[in-house]
This record gives sequence, structure tokens and C-alpha cells, in this order.
Amino acid sequence: VELVHMASLVHDDLIDRAALRRGHATAWRTHGSVGARATGDYLFARAFSELAASDDAEGVQILADAALALVRGEALQHAQTHRPETTVDEYLHRCSLKTAELFRAACLLAGRDPRLGEFGRALGMAFQITDDILDCTGSTFETGKVAGNDLREGTPTLPLLLAAREDEVVRAALAGGPLDGALIRVAGTGAFDAAREVALRYAAEARSHLDGRYRPELEALTHIVVERRN
Ligand code: FPP
Ligand code: MG
Repeated sequence: VELVHMASLVHDDLIDRAALRRGHATAWRTHGSVGARATGDYLFARAFSELAASDDAEGVQILADAALALVRGEALQHAQTHRPETTVDEYLHRCSLKTAELFRAACLLAGRDPRLGEFGRALGMAFQITDDILDCTGSTFETGKVAGNDLREGTPTLPLLLAAREDEVVRAALAGGPLDGALIRVAGTGAFDAAREVALRYAAEARSHLDGRYRPELEALTHIVVERRN
């Protein structure tokens, strides 16, 4: 799972033209797009090589399904780029594919328990929505990323698409127009609080899927994903 995740981030940084990841220059910035693409492909192939060596056919299927979802999610994001009219449901569908399915797979691989899978899916949704808020509000020192990348790339995340409904400057920026002052105006719309409410709802849903096993640890994760600053 970690290898697939890392592969997808190496590709993602190239697609998003992100300069920093975890406080370091991204692979494409250091090695160019051909080197980054090959590295991502290597990590992806390596993940399945590791899993195949475990002789766990069901496990291979679980991770293959999640990898397919990742790519579909990324394709959907491409289709939604510069579309401020993207609906909340379309955004949530994208998050489900590009993030929540991998969380679900990680949990399923651990226990083969569908309820644990549902816990992972809801946790992944809370994680991605919080990630999209942090893209606007986080400091590079804490997130290790450059803030404002989603607006710059025209990616309609939940806070941005909600703000675009209220503010014409944000709407124009998300559609590919001038960015000046747009991120500050997002804060003025209350969209961060509204997006956080949605993330908190998914975190609560994740807790509702837990039974007794490992409850303190897994419940702690549902708080960490929404309270984190990095
Ligand atoms: C990060 O999102 C990106 C993803 C969760 C998925 C990216 C998937 C691909 C690039 C498809 C290729 C996949 C494989 C399996 C090789 P983000 O940009 O919102 O997060 P960030 O702020 O951390 O960059
Ligand atoms: Mg990205």
C-alpha cells in the first residue's frame, strides 16, 4: 500500500506541478518529468511484485481494484479542472476514487473485514477533505507543501467550489482567471468551516464502523486526520 501510495504521489506531483513534498523538492523538479514518471512506474510495479510474492491472490485483487480507482479518480480530477461549477457530489466521488479506496484497501488487506473496509473508506474521505483545506490554509513549514496549489491548478476542491458559489473572484480564479487575492477571499466566505463540517461527518462515520477491536488506536486516527496541521 505504501509503495502504491508513493507511486501515485510521484505521478501526482508531476501532474499537479507541485514543487515540494514532505519538505523536499519533488521528483520531477529534481530529476525531470521522464525520470519522475519512470520512478512512479517502478514503485507501482514494485508494489505488485511484493504482493504477488506473498501468494495472496485476493490481496492482489484488492490492491489492483484500489489502483484502478486511483487512476479513475485522477482522470476525473482532470475532467473537473477549471470547472468551478463542479458539484459537491462530483467532488466527493473524486475523493472516494483517488483517496478513500486506497484507505479501504489498506484496511481490507489487514483484516479482510468489510466493516473495517468501510471504516477505511470514511477515514480516507475525512483525510482528503482535510488535505484540501490544508492546501489553502496550511503553512509550508508544517505541511511540507506549497500552499495554494489547487487554486493555481484550477482543481475544484470542496472549500474552493463552495467559496466559488459565493464569490465571483474565486469563481473566476478557479476557472483559470487571475489569482490575485482569491485565496484570501475564500477565507471570507466561510467555506473552510463548511468543508471542515463535512470532514468531521466522515470522521464520525468512520468511528461508527468500529467494533471493539483496536478501537482506541483506530478511533484516535479519526481525530488525527481532521485535527492535523501537516
Ligand atoms: C494526491 O492528491 C493524489 C492522489 C491521492 C492520487 C493520485 C493518482 C494518480 C496520479 C494516478 C496514478 C496512480 C498510480 C497507481 C501510479 P492531491 O493532489 O489532492 O494531494 P497533495 O496535495 O498531497 O498533492
Ligand atoms: Mg497533488
